[in-house]
Amino acid sequence: MTMKRIFPIFAAVALLAACSQPLPNPEAFSVIPCPNEVSLSEGAFNVKGVAIAIDPALDEASQAAVRRFVSALETASGVKTKSGKALSFVLNANLAPEQYVIDIQPKAAHVEASALNGFVYACETLKQMLPAAIYGSTVQADAGWVLPCAHIEDQPRFAYRGMHMDPSRHFWTIEETKRYLDVMTAYKLNRLHWHLTDDQGWRMEVKAYPRLTEVGAWRNGTVIKKDWGSNDGIRYGGFYTQEQMKEIVAYAAERGITVIPEVDLPGHMVAALAAYPGLGCTGGPYEVWTRWGVAKDILCAGNDEIFTFLEKVFDELMDIFPSEYIHIGGDECFNGDAEPGRPDPWDVCPKCAAKMKELGIKKGPMAKHYLQNYVTARMQDFLNSKGRKIIGWDEILEGNLAPGATVMSWRGVEGGIKAAEKGFDAIMTPSGLCYFDYYQSQERDKEPFGIGGHLPLEKVYGYEPFDGLKPGTEKHILGVQANLWTEYIATPEHLEYMLLPRMCALSEIQWCAADKKDYARFDASLDHTFKMLDAMGVNYSLDCRGLVGLDRQPARTPHQLKKYLEENPRNW
Ligand code: ACM
Ligand code: ZN
Repeated sequence: MTMKRIFPIFAAVALLAACSQPLPNPEAFSVIPCPNEVSLSEGAFNVKGVAIAIDPALDEASQAAVRRFVSALETASGVKTKSGKALSFVLNANLAPEQYVIDIQPKAAHVEASALNGFVYACETLKQMLPAAIYGSTVQADAGWVLPCAHIEDQPRFAYRGMHMDPSRHFWTIEETKRYLDVMTAYKLNRLHWHLTDDQGWRMEVKAYPRLTEVGAWRNGTVIKKDWGSNDGIRYGGFYTQEQMKEIVAYAAERGITVIPEVDLPGHMVAALAAYPGLGCTGGPYEVWTRWGVAKDILCAGNDEIFTFLEKVFDELMDIFPSEYIHIGGDECFNGDAEPGRPDPWDVCPKCAAKMKELGIKKGPMAKHYLQNYVTARMQDFLNSKGRKIIGWDEILEGNLAPGATVMSWRGVEGGIKAAEKGFDAIMTPSGLCYFDYYQSQERDKEPFGIGGHLPLEKVYGYEPFDGLKPGTEKHILGVQANLWTEYIATPEHLEYMLLPRMCALSEIQWCAADKKDYARFDASLDHTFKMLDAMGVNYSLDCRGLVGLDRQPARTPHQLKKYLEENPRNW
């Protein structure tokens, strides 16, 4: 079958309407992110009770991923599958690890991939082509368990397709984190950036430094809205044991997702300083921060003990996280907005001054940045010596960054563009386009209280990561990520509301070739995605349908959502 550009939705529906087999669900091609090459043809393939063959040449993880698909199909259709060759999952070693091919004919279908990620993505595409009930746990025997005949050849545009999670500002349980990973899996993301430490809470158990979680994981209150001068006075916190973090790493790995842990340094360290005050310039005392914003107090670069501390922390971290990339933070070390008028500790600390002298750093506005370069380079050397690579926020580029670091561009796109020009790899997370803590609508009085900004769905969708790059430097853009800081987000319902459907738009930036993106097609696909999220029991925003705010969601049962969608046709 020749490959064609994807049919417009209306053509697909017309073709499907013409087939003699039972009709698939009417939004049969609403897959997000849209596969890069799709050719639909007449007919449909029945999957209810279908005979399935899994090639024994598949590795154990790939077989398990296929079995999860089969189990979801059996649960939702209410019928066990059989063994046989109507639907086959076959190893094709010629495909790239994230690539897959699906071929569906009326009497047989087969899926090919070469590795776990390809099989995971093939299964997710199949799931999105089936009734949304496949994402739930209830039987919907008559939902229409057929796949439209199609030939799909698909692989991602970017190798790094990330989503960030912030358990420091508000803590997310292991179960909530797994749900986050489930949603990421559905949209073919492959990196979870786990921001495990910050001023307001240290969330990672470190056996060598027990006070990090005994003291650093707990704060004595949380800011109420933006009244930074006071807080609710309620002790708040939590942390992940090493076993729990390993459980998350394994759960993610089964779904083709690498967890990249972040220990933010040398700034955003007040929770650690509260536990071990000797690591700060003044010696404290410090308190786990009960306000938001940027703290003045950071690790003392003139005290070599910080490297002993950090190396032990990272040694334990590397035992838990096999990721090649480790995020070392590096953002917002200076000019913190807390305590106006107080100088930055590195400007007045005798130990930091002695270290600058020892390193030959001249006094002046760049001195602090060169001192930060020294801290970054020491950690980079240490992590490189263990076979790992560093990622840092774009501040690490100021001064002299050692080769081999990857820059995460968050203060706009400029950091990523500059990094690429200098020959560094970069990951694009520009705040104006990829910060999902920003409001989705302009109707702030109806939205749950938030940090500010305005980032509607269509604006996310419109982001083109190569814009502004010098020709020839595109190869340095490893991919794109969105960040979801949770200062003002305290419940899973609100977290998911901020995440979705913006992460769906993100997934098309990450996955689809630039010329395959089409907002009208994407928008039409959202109707199916909302049903699918509904079946998963995951919340989402309907701002893109003119329904603003958490309390304006239609009730989240499939029946009520169906009624809601009927009453609100597509051109809302
Ligand atoms: C950041 O948003 N401070 C990286
Ligand atoms: Zn110091």
